[in-house]
Amino acid sequence: MKRFKILGTGTAFPERVLTNAELEKTVDTSDAWIVERTGIRERRIADAETSTSTLGAASVRAACAQAGIEPDSLDAIILATSSPDTMFPSTACWVQHKLDIGGMAAFDIGAGCSGFLFALEVGASLLGTGKRVAVIGAEVMSKVVNWEDRSTCVLFGDGAATVIIESTDEERGLLSFNWGSDGRLAPILYQPAGGTQMPATAETVAQQLHSVKMQGNPVFKHAVRSMTAAGKAALAAAELSADDIDLLIPHQANMRIMEACRTRLKVPKDKMMSIVHKYGNMSAATIPVALHEAREQGRAPADSTIAMAAFGTGLTWAGAVLRV
Ligand code: ACO
Repeated sequence: MKRFKILGTGTAFPERVLTNAELEKTVDTSDAWIVERTGIRERRIADAETSTSTLGAASVRAACAQAGIEPDSLDAIILATSSPDTMFPSTACWVQHKLDIGGMAAFDIGAGCSGFLFALEVGASLLGTGKRVAVIGAEVMSKVVNWEDRSTCVLFGDGAATVIIESTDEERGLLSFNWGSDGRLAPILYQPAGGTQMPATAETVAQQLHSVKMQGNPVFKHAVRSMTAAGKAALAAAELSADDIDLLIPHQANMRIMEACRTRLKVPKDKMMSIVHKYGNMSAATIPVALHEAREQGRAPADSTIAMAAFGTGLTWAGAVLRV
């Protein structure tokens, strides 16, 4: 078991809400299609000045305020994202820049939508006595989707959340954790251009190669399979059954995937945290945002047990049981 306590959580979102009804006016889609296939009703969209680190930094400030600590008292900042501010430096360093702090290690984790759980495991591993780490999931997916591609643009949204963890002797933290990746499946969900594989040119921009390319059906299948397996493995390693958990927080990609995972894990409907209807798929930010909202709503009180499962581009997956 990796022991830690949560000192505080915080979220940040762009103000702009984009509804399905508005999307109907710009792409050939309908509110009914989007709701039936995904459960998404609206999502937040960043303005031109807002980047991933803008939201990340705001969520760190909010989490620090809740924890009653200053950002410069953090010992490390780990940020999970698929929509970084720049190729380099890391978005975590841009968060430091925005917070005007330095000294502590800051780095990114690139594991797609599984990124927050990967970052939580890495953060928990760094905790020595008295150390505290900010674990951030932050995304501005709206700037890496092709707004003319109805099969992807309706799915994603922007947002960020920070969870501040600190070492403790108490019996809380990660009761179990598992993770994995299969890079052989990288081509089913990726952003083709902008890196060293395909540097940016006028043609790559004209061909919309700087945006999400996804084979929806294979992603769906792998998502259900890997998230369910990761969730089951996490419960088994913690020697718990579905009856023992108070809350399930799956990655919020779309409601059908979440429901398929929940039923296979045999978790009752009322124990699943769901925020996908109002934010869409915020990739690495969905699990920490859901965790923050669960805390705000009294659904994750002290000593409760939370199962979490994620999948993402890579493909990657992770499962965890958290005692808060
Ligand atoms: N509005 C209306 N029609 C649409 C839309 C849309 N937004 N998008 C696609 N369609 C059409 C297709 O063109 C197709 O039309 P056709 O039959 O005439 O060819 C039809 O709807 C069915 O398309 P499918 O792709 O088969 O639809 P499906 O039921 O598989 O749903 C979806 C598509 C929602 C993308 C599904 O495949 C899915 O959920 N996949 C997983 C996607 C996901 O969650 N990705 C997360 C990526 S990031 C991460 O979290 C790791």
